[in-house]
Amino acid sequence: MSTNAKESYDLFPYLSHCYSETHPDNLAVAALQRGLSPASVAKCRVLELGCASGGNLMPMAAMWPESQFVGIDRSTRQVEEGQRLCSTLGLRNIELRAIDFMDFDGGSEPFDYILCHGVFSWVPVPVQQRVLQLCQRHLAAQGIAYISYNTYPGFYRRQPIMEMMRYHVAGAEATDPTAQVREARALLQFLIKGQSDSEGTTARLLREEAQLIERLPDSYVFHEHFEADNQPCYFHQFMKQADEHGLQYVGEAAARGGLAGLPEGTQQILAQLASEPIKQEQYIDFVRNTAMRSTLLCRKENALLTGQTSAFVKSLWVSSTSRPSTPSELQGEKLRKQSPATFQTIRGSAVIEHPHVKAMLLVLHQYQPTSLTIPDLAAATSALLGEILDVETISGMALYSHNTGLCRLHTALPPIARSISEFPSASPLARITVASTGVAPNQWHESVRIPPFEQTLLPFLDGTRTQEALLDAMQQAVLDGTLVVNGPDGSQLRNALLARKIVAQHLPKALQTLLDSALLVS
Ligand SMILES: C[S@@+](CC[C@H](N)C(=O)[O-])C[C@H]1O[C@@H](n2cnc3c(N)ncnc32)[C@H](O)[C@@H]1O
Repeated sequence: MSTNAKESYDLFPYLSHCYSETHPDNLAVAALQRGLSPASVAKCRVLELGCASGGNLMPMAAMWPESQFVGIDRSTRQVEEGQRLCSTLGLRNIELRAIDFMDFDGGSEPFDYILCHGVFSWVPVPVQQRVLQLCQRHLAAQGIAYISYNTYPGFYRRQPIMEMMRYHVAGAEATDPTAQVREARALLQFLIKGQSDSEGTTARLLREEAQLIERLPDSYVFHEHFEADNQPCYFHQFMKQADEHGLQYVGEAAARGGLAGLPEGTQQILAQLASEPIKQEQYIDFVRNTAMRSTLLCRKENALLTGQTSAFVKSLWVSSTSRPSTPSELQGEKLRKQSPATFQTIRGSAVIEHPHVKAMLLVLHQYQPTSLTIPDLAAATSALLGEILDVETISGMALYSHNTGLCRLHTALPPIARSISEFPSASPLARITVASTGVAPNQWHESVRIPPFEQTLLPFLDGTRTQEALLDAMQQAVLDGTLVVNGPDGSQLRNALLARKIVAQHLPKALQTLLDSALLVS
């Protein structure tokens, strides 16, 4: 079991990835909704508290060279690892510092965005207070702070299971973190098998936890479950602390949907709390059993808009990762009628009936992975429907869809390829990180898990190779065993002609996969 954060993260470094919800672009959209004037993503100052090895800040720094990024973390090992990668990439606008929050003097120049992801719940109360104090002292007048944390009541579902895992590991002989996580995973399976009622509440909760951690790397499970501190809180408790530090509620970074989707009677009752937003949000957590939040804060002096306005949306871009589950539900007259169509979204599946929203999402799907301006989206949606929709209508629909996780609004546009060019190119950071982690940051600041063939291909996409040259490089990778491909007899392929044939079959599909995942640069 870990004793203190520095020791534990030096011992077992965290896999440091990027999170699109922390991106200043996403924070700027939330700020605009509340009537603030956020700094431009292209020219801003960003501070990350608990940056690990900088996996979240580096893609931002690489994409926005005129913005400045400072990341601090007490784990020297993680920070040094990040510093090495920054110098390999030649990034001059990012500084990663190995320092404790308690000793950090943020300097005299304020930060437009302060990010603290995956830290707050795992540090002792004085450090939590320090995080809020640093936001209070160093946030710019119109700045936004992002803090994620585990919340009750939802976290109560996981807590007893985590406590059982901690107890088990504390009593086990294993001392190295990987073995401890293995023991904890094994305990979970033991408990699941031990349930006489496989459909009972305990069995379901155990299965939920097992499914959750199955997808997570050992380092994440270790720090999430075995850090000495793990202190979830209720939203109202978090906001009380924020208020004591001169900060007020702006909104959430991750689409939550607010009242949307709740039964009508519940919506009506909760809507009566509109004048007390903290209370309203707390009751929504009670109803939704929320287990985690990523809350956005600003200085208390700012007067924030409370009503919904979509006027600011007109000058933004819109993208979407939602896709229709059953395309036939959107064909012909079905599209123009009030009839249900299911979309897979980042928050699960959503059933949409309104013809205008269905058409807008279908257009956005056709433009994936890129985005459209609001006037272009209005024109394309109108053309699809055969009915004129003005920019005001589209703006309102886009804002609602952004807030419910159906699409995303953007204040700035990254260079994303819409088709496979003659010399396909991916970002230098994606090309480097995929080799060590199998995960790469895409142009939308999402961490994308890359399949094995594409993992070998991605580093070759430096914009100097034609598809023919990529074929040569991948053929060579198969022949020298960098990419293991088995031949028809099941043994590792070494035959040059066969290797070329197989690579030629896979290459177009792999390039398309990378294009669809927003990993190719325009
Ligand atoms: C769970 S990791 C999260 C890393 C990263 N933000 C992410 O979400 O991928 C928590 C990080 O906070 C750092 N940390 C914890 N307490 C700290 C403190 N008092 N001062 C500076 N860093 C701290 C740890 O070293 C660790 O890298």
